[in-house]
Amino acid sequence: MAERNPAVGPADDAVLEELRFDYMQIRGVYQAAIREINARLQTLDSEFSYRHRHNPIHHIESRVKSLPSIVKKLRALGIPVSIINAKKNLHDIAGVRVVCRYVDDIYRIANLLLSQDDVLLIQEKDYIKHPKENGYRSLHIVVDVPVYMIEGRLFIPVEIQIRTVAMDFWATLEHGIRYKSSEEVPDSIVRELRECADVITDTDYRMQGIFKALQMVHDREEEAEIEPDGGS
Ligand code: GTP
Ligand code: MG
Repeated sequence: MAERNPAVGPADDAVLEELRFDYMQIRGVYQAAIREINARLQTLDSEFSYRHRHNPIHHIESRVKSLPSIVKKLRALGIPVSIINAKKNLHDIAGVRVVCRYVDDIYRIANLLLSQDDVLLIQEKDYIKHPKENGYRSLHIVVDVPVYMIEGRLFIPVEIQIRTVAMDFWATLEHGIRYKSSEEVPDSIVRELRECADVITDTDYRMQGIFKALQMVHDREEEAEIEPDGGS
């Protein structure tokens, strides 16, 4: 017999069908919020690159939470399943992941975005300053962003995870390992994953150090070019 996802069992096909119409309606709004955030991030990255010859953002991923995931999360939270309750209680229906090159870039991008007066900070979790017990590191912010729909302006929450390429490497593989295993991950593996996270953290800061050192050499060379003999 085919295995079923316990969170969305046979009786749930009807539940999903009932919610689908409302879900399709709100999905467009959350997609619009993601487009808005993406556009702002791309603008910041381009301007930063133009001014400082460095692109803080390596790449951006985004998604609107699927209907089965919404149902699963509401159930896990013990909240009656409806689209209204999803809108009220889940702030990660729209999710954006910003993968930066260096640790400093994460805070640079977050601060630039948050300094925009129509981007409202709802929640911040700094798992870089305070990594999770398992070694997970990223900066999570939830912001309300304006989107203009036919009925006018709406403020829509978007969860933005900002991390380095190195943090993303660890998080992606750790997530895969956790989901692959049907049982609890043994303590020895948990410890080893934590050790890998520590090595990656160290490497992250060393790579940033290398980048900064080279940037300083470059800046000095440029200054020397501008003022070859004390300026004129
Ligand atoms: P969720 O119910 O997962 O949304 O948790 P939360 O509401 O407590 O939010 P939190 O900010 O802690 O985590 C939100 C998201 O961050 C998760 O859905 C994952 O995408 C990511 N995340 C958090 N912790 C971990 C972790 O330990 N490993 C990995 N790989 N990702 C994580
Ligand atoms: Mg989440």
